[in-house]
Amino acid sequence: MTQLITLLSGDGIGPEVTKAAVKVIQHTAEKFNTSFTLQEKLIGGASYEEYGTPLTEDTLQACYDSNAVLLGAVGGYQWENLEHHLKPEAALLKLRKSLGLFTNIRPTNVFSPLVDSSSLKREVIEGTDYVVFRELTGGIYFGQPRGYDEHKGFNTMVYGKEEVVRIAKQAFEAAQRRNKKLTSVDKANVLEVSQFWRKVVEEVASDYPDVELNHMYVDNAAMQIVRDPKQFDVIVTSNMFGDIISDISGMITGSLGMLPSASLGTKYALYEPVHGSAPDIAGKNIANPLATILSAAMMFEYSFEMATASQVIFDAVERTLDQGYRTAEIAMEGDTVVTTEEMTDIVITNFEKIFNDQSLGVFTL
Ligand code: IPM
Ligand code: MN
Repeated sequence: MTQLITLLSGDGIGPEVTKAAVKVIQHTAEKFNTSFTLQEKLIGGASYEEYGTPLTEDTLQACYDSNAVLLGAVGGYQWENLEHHLKPEAALLKLRKSLGLFTNIRPTNVFSPLVDSSSLKREVIEGTDYVVFRELTGGIYFGQPRGYDEHKGFNTMVYGKEEVVRIAKQAFEAAQRRNKKLTSVDKANVLEVSQFWRKVVEEVASDYPDVELNHMYVDNAAMQIVRDPKQFDVIVTSNMFGDIISDISGMITGSLGMLPSASLGTKYALYEPVHGSAPDIAGKNIANPLATILSAAMMFEYSFEMATASQVIFDAVERTLDQGYRTAEIAMEGDTVVTTEEMTDIVITNFEKIFNDQSLGVFTL
């Protein structure tokens, strides 16, 4: 069966990192005897330049028609002063909302070869492995009323019961598959919306007696993540708290350039690196493609139920790091600095080796 993937490479380093991921996807498809059709569409600043809007109906329709969407990054200095709805970021928000992608999964695990690139001490960061479940289509990002005039600015943080229930369920189920620990992050000491969130999460918890649930205020959670990240297994939180928590999580693993994400709804799925468009290094063939390659790995796992393919990509990335290859932003003394394209080819070579070794033994294809 041929799966259709829509590619939205976007702005800045987006096109370079998605090109890298596409190469890995094509290679994986070949090895695992499956085929993918890729269709490319514009989004963000690139779309604004061409069509005067950051997200066209045509691009949106292409996403509705496909089995999965792979996105690079959007944004850049030249579009920062556009009206709110014309900004590249508005396209991303509209896409998430239109596709109903309420679950944003951001894994935070530190690759052992990168432990010393972390801003935290080795003994604090080593062995960190948790995943953030961020609610992605509600909360203060979308609440009404919103606006500003010359006297005031305002937004609304609101969650309906169903919105909390569905993200909580996803997080509990993930915790069941992992170490059975869930931390729900809120600001219930101040916000009613958080008191409600907490109450609903407690209700959902009764269906998952095997999962140990705790609640944490978001300020404390930010502190705990840098103090002792190993205490976490699964974190579930609202849209804006999740935005902040996931950047902290990204940083402590050594580089935001390493972190993938999956955004899932009941029907559609979108995969993108956590990092942004990094316009200052765009077009130089030096961007780190690993977050997007790992996002493609998540795509194989969640959209195509090809967990083995996903694992081989992950292992190939780990081996590449083990061998000392680094893009410039994470290189330390003694590492071999490589370009975006070189890094991609080395990952593919390692993929090949791991695939050949393993297909003799463990996996049945
Ligand atoms: C993210 C980004 C986006 C967000 C921006 C670009 C709208 O920071 O994906 O984390 O705030 O959700
Ligand atoms: Mn963010």
